[in-house]
Amino acid sequence: MIVNSAKFVISNTDVGKCPADMRHEFAFIGRSNVGKSSLINMITGRKNLAQTSSTPGKTLLINHFLINDEWYLVDLPGYGYAQRSKNGRLEIKRIIESYILNRPQLTCLFLLIDGRHKPQKIDMEFMEWLGENEIPFCIVFTKLDKLSSSAAKTAIAAYCAKLLDTWEELPPVFRTSSVDKRGKDQLLAYIDELCQLPLQIESCS
Ligand code: GTP
Ligand code: MG
Repeated sequence: MIVNSAKFVISNTDVGKCPADMRHEFAFIGRSNVGKSSLINMITGRKNLAQTSSTPGKTLLINHFLINDEWYLVDLPGYGYAQRSKNGRLEIKRIIESYILNRPQLTCLFLLIDGRHKPQKIDMEFMEWLGENEIPFCIVFTKLDKLSSSAAKTAIAAYCAKLLDTWEELPPVFRTSSVDKRGKDQLLAYIDELCQLPLQIESCS
């Protein structure tokens, strides 16, 4: 897929105020500073579409971007930033959870994991919560430019092996770097594939 247009639409903390139109939506989630906003810029080929920062905790809102006038890409706040106050962390958790649980347009959640880090409890618990709530997700390893190719291979294999201790099968896995742009074509091809399917909106009847 080629990204021809990418427009910022709205930011808010309330899932009820997100765009009401029924389009496929893909959201990026993960720990603060893992590279969510950078990856949104990388796959859309825009430098400053999403705001990035070397200081964790930059994105605090649910940010909707309309891509090719067809589907939404959503930048979410990061979780687990230890230096935020307890109330601040609870507020971020509330925003993230209410968005994920109340957004039927959400076709797939991309969970970003820093490829340099060993499996962290907070990410494992988050994945368990996604599983319990039947939220479709993929894993996206980020910042792989910071590892040699053999170190990246070893780290990802170890991560996947750890996941298989608790999961029967692995979700789709992507290998990315916002610096050298690896993973861009694979992510866009996957999104394109999902966009061809009818939007699955469960009805209460
Ligand atoms: P919050 O919004 O604070 O949760 O962070 P975020 O997950 O959106 O991370 P962001 O994209 O703002 O990036 C955080 C820092 O990591 C910035 O200094 C980026 O330049 C850097 N970064 C992001 N992706 C990559 C990458 O693929 N490679 C390298 N080397 N640095 C990256
Ligand atoms: Mg961000």
